[in-house]
Amino acid sequence: MGKYYNVSKNVAVGLLVIAVSALVTIIALSIAYDKQRAKNQGNPGDDAGTGSISVPPTTPFTSKEPWDHFRLPDSLIPDSYSVTLWPRLKPNAEGMYIFTGQSAVLFRCQKETDLIIIHANKLNFTTYLDKHANLTGLGKATAPTIQRTWLVVRTEYLVIRLSGKLAVGESYMLQTEFTGELADDLEGFYRSEYMDDGVKKVVATSQMQATFARKAFPCFDEPAMKAVFNVTIIHDPGTKALSNSKQMDSSDAILDNIPVKVTTFEPTEKMSTYLLAFIVCDFDSIVSEESKFLIRIWAQRKAIGSKQGEYALNVTGPILQFYEKYYNTTYPLSKSDQIALPDFHAGAMENWGLVTYRETALLYDPVLSSTGNKERVVSVISHELAHMWFGNLVTLRWWNDLWLNEGFASYVEYLGIDYVEPTWNIRDHIILYDMQKVFAIDALASSHPLSRKEEEVNEPSEISEMFNTISYSKGAAVLRMLSEFLTEPVFAKGLSSYLNTFAFGNTEYKDLWDHLQQAVENTPDLSIPHTVHDIMSRWILQMGFPVVTINTTTGGVSQKHFLLDSDSKVDRPSQFNYTWFVPIKWMKNGMDQQQYWLLMEKDTSAEMRVSGDEWVLANTNVSGYFRVNYDEGNWDRLLSLLNTSHRILSVLNRAQIIDDAFNLARAKIIPTTMALRTTEYLLKERDYIPWVSALRNLDYYILMFDRTEVYGVLQAYLKKQIEPLFEYFRTLTSNWTQIPVGHTDQYNQINALRIACGVGVEGCRQLINNWFRQWMENPGHNPIHPNLKGTVYCSALAFGGAKEWDFAWRMFKNTTLASEASRLRSAMACTKIPWLLNRYLEYTLDPTKIRKQDATSTIQNIAYNVVGMPLAWNFVRAKWSHIFQEYGKGSFSFPNLISGITVRFSTEFELLELKKFKEDNRQLGFGSATMALVQAIEKTTANIKWVAENKDKVLEWLSEKTVAGNFR
Ligand SMILES: *[C@@H]1O[C@H](CO)[C@@H](O)[C@H](O)[C@H]1NC(C)=O
Ligand SMILES: *[C@@H]1O[C@H](CO)[C@@H](O)[C@H](O)[C@H]1NC(C)=O
Ligand SMILES: *[C@@H]1O[C@H](CO)[C@@H](O)[C@H](O)[C@H]1NC(C)=O
Ligand SMILES: [Zn+2]
Repeated sequence: MGKYYNVSKNVAVGLLVIAVSALVTIIALSIAYDKQRAKNQGNPGDDAGTGSISVPPTTPFTSKEPWDHFRLPDSLIPDSYSVTLWPRLKPNAEGMYIFTGQSAVLFRCQKETDLIIIHANKLNFTTYLDKHANLTGLGKATAPTIQRTWLVVRTEYLVIRLSGKLAVGESYMLQTEFTGELADDLEGFYRSEYMDDGVKKVVATSQMQATFARKAFPCFDEPAMKAVFNVTIIHDPGTKALSNSKQMDSSDAILDNIPVKVTTFEPTEKMSTYLLAFIVCDFDSIVSEESKFLIRIWAQRKAIGSKQGEYALNVTGPILQFYEKYYNTTYPLSKSDQIALPDFHAGAMENWGLVTYRETALLYDPVLSSTGNKERVVSVISHELAHMWFGNLVTLRWWNDLWLNEGFASYVEYLGIDYVEPTWNIRDHIILYDMQKVFAIDALASSHPLSRKEEEVNEPSEISEMFNTISYSKGAAVLRMLSEFLTEPVFAKGLSSYLNTFAFGNTEYKDLWDHLQQAVENTPDLSIPHTVHDIMSRWILQMGFPVVTINTTTGGVSQKHFLLDSDSKVDRPSQFNYTWFVPIKWMKNGMDQQQYWLLMEKDTSAEMRVSGDEWVLANTNVSGYFRVNYDEGNWDRLLSLLNTSHRILSVLNRAQIIDDAFNLARAKIIPTTMALRTTEYLLKERDYIPWVSALRNLDYYILMFDRTEVYGVLQAYLKKQIEPLFEYFRTLTSNWTQIPVGHTDQYNQINALRIACGVGVEGCRQLINNWFRQWMENPGHNPIHPNLKGTVYCSALAFGGAKEWDFAWRMFKNTTLASEASRLRSAMACTKIPWLLNRYLEYTLDPTKIRKQDATSTIQNIAYNVVGMPLAWNFVRAKWSHIFQEYGKGSFSFPNLISGITVRFSTEFELLELKKFKEDNRQLGFGSATMALVQAIEKTTANIKWVAENKDKVLEWLSEKTVAGNFR
């Protein structure tokens, strides 16, 4: 799945929202990973079958019948399916949207058995003589008669008991007929709605990953159960039907006295069920003429009409060509469709040949969208297309290895973007959007290893929980480190051999290590100190990462498990005792040195001993997944280097010094004032990545202190630091009439404006209010540049009242551009007026006002506002059972909700409230937010301690700096 939730990465970076007493941040995105779905547990009451098990899922099972296991037995292997689905885009007499279907699955018997166990969830089967299915033998096989059939709700099975045994090596065909609900639950085969010139339109679409194909038709719904799918879709003559493969035929027919189209598709390649897609819609498309295969972009007619699909179309062909070269394997399919859906839970989904997206992740309006929107579109496309090979052609055997699939796509997506947008230096951005983000989570004692044992991941909710920041971003970070120390050509060679060996099959992560090892062995001039397997085991089988300490006076180099809260206890034992094999790229006095491997806890390196003005900088370009600490002397020399000639260090290393220092200080390894000192040179810094690193870390200070006396001096200090940047951009843009040329300059212009307005830099608010007023006076003509809209809207609403808010709401409802709607939706959370915020909170639970897919992130935005935080917390507590029951099934991302609301928690009272919340809802539970709740408690505890220990020091340091500034 695509990893971005609904806010653009760039927009999200420290999206400082100006609320209440000026500056409040709203970023949330460092945590706003959607991914995790709420627990999808069967409701025993729904059971339509006979003899089904009605035990609540929390009760441990004692009975161990084959259908009590969440994993399929290995007796039957599917070969192909023929699936016909007929979604009704109008409600039936009872007001329900349904689909009907027929399915035949052809399977082979591998082990003698008298049971057929196949996944099915929430389907009503047509029964004949009480049986849910028909069975026929193929070839010379005769099928035993069916004795009894029943549904098991808890494990989501249809079970068929036969009167005799199926014979090993023989093939059989199982046929079923069924009806399902085409619900608006964003799972399985579901419906999405939108307005088209005042007319409501319905789309039937699907999301199968991870365990929802079984909700569309009965199937062996595990990634290793690959098969060929012959798909037929029945639909209204006025609509289009799409699926994974090319259309073969479409003919008119009359069914149930209704004229319909019957569209059949070519048999698919051998593939996993979670990658299937079925769509019926009245969309328009654009087609690429140049490619060897068919490339199309689909969206609402209006969006295609206003050319919002062009950018996606233009980059898709080149990105696919790039991957063909990089993987050294041709694109495995004959077409590539990509479609933007009005309602979609994840950011995007890599269905093979028919990739589905949120509208904001695929559509880009050349006039109205921002640079951030553009980057998001190309990033998500690049991520999903990377999966066409890695994930789809070669698929991990089971969900415990999800990290490899998602981490891989999250790493190579940067290579794909770099190929189509070579001027962006996009490969640097992995530091911000993956590494720094996951460092924060993986430094908690409650983190977990990347890789899990197969037997630890069984139930759908356990599978959902795998879609988290660790899998995506730590996966990306360790694979990048691997590619760095193997070198890119060797990495690519091993990869290509892996993909070619296992095409159309399944693997586990060790298979990739084996092929990379072969590539190493075939490269005589490359040497690594241990095998790929042994080096990587330490990074994937134990949680966390090391802080490497270099003592430049002695040459001592050592490592230690880095924990943000130095008092926290690690309960999870590690076979490697929390030590790693650490590849250290480093430089001395600006000169790159030979890579150094730290292979034990403590070592010495004569080269790293320096004297006089000499300095050492390790982990250049943050190529390794670890933090670095130095002796005080070297820290001082690095700080003075920043203050005198910061450009000697690369942008990434400047960013890294700041981020390491702040985090080492959080962990009490270096003094807090040392971290604060890394921000002094920002007076001269003009580059985006160091600024974002600093702002993110200062964000923490803002969150901890924006309700205390420290906030005044913090604002004054920020004002002093941001003024030169504000002036720089004012000049560069001829008094804000132009937009900078450089990609990251455009982002940093947004930072400058946002912070400056937040802390009251002269002229900033006036500028913004003028723009907004002009727009309100003439809504048909928006004078604000798309890049700046997010910031301007938020500030204007923060400084404005109900009139501004209602205007924004009207614009939100009227816009036909999804990214514009998304900006306005975030901005409406910036108001400082409580009743407006409370009304907005109520709107989030009304799908006619805020789409279900956007509910969580909207509540999160409100909670990020210092005025909105207590309101959102009360709201969520008061409505928890409603939220859990109504939205808990997939469309609501609970982990984000919890982590978003608690991000500012730093008092004993808040900790008590949080624990009470956990206690009060023990019965109901927290689904996939369980882990997030544990983390929230750990973080709050750490925050309380941090504030107690640092408040006075921070106040003192900032006061000193700002008083000095006043006298300047
Ligand atoms: C699906 O189509 C293939 C190719 O035409 C065919 O061999 C296979 O038997 C079909 N499967 C089913 C279940 O009808
Ligand atoms: C099963 O066979 C019976 C009798 O031939 C037939 O009426 C029924 O429609 C079949 N059901 C399915 C699901 O194919
Ligand atoms: C399935 O059957 C149940 C029980 O009869 C009924 O409440 C539900 O509406 C049915 N669903 C569909 C999609 O027909
Ligand atoms: Zn993905």
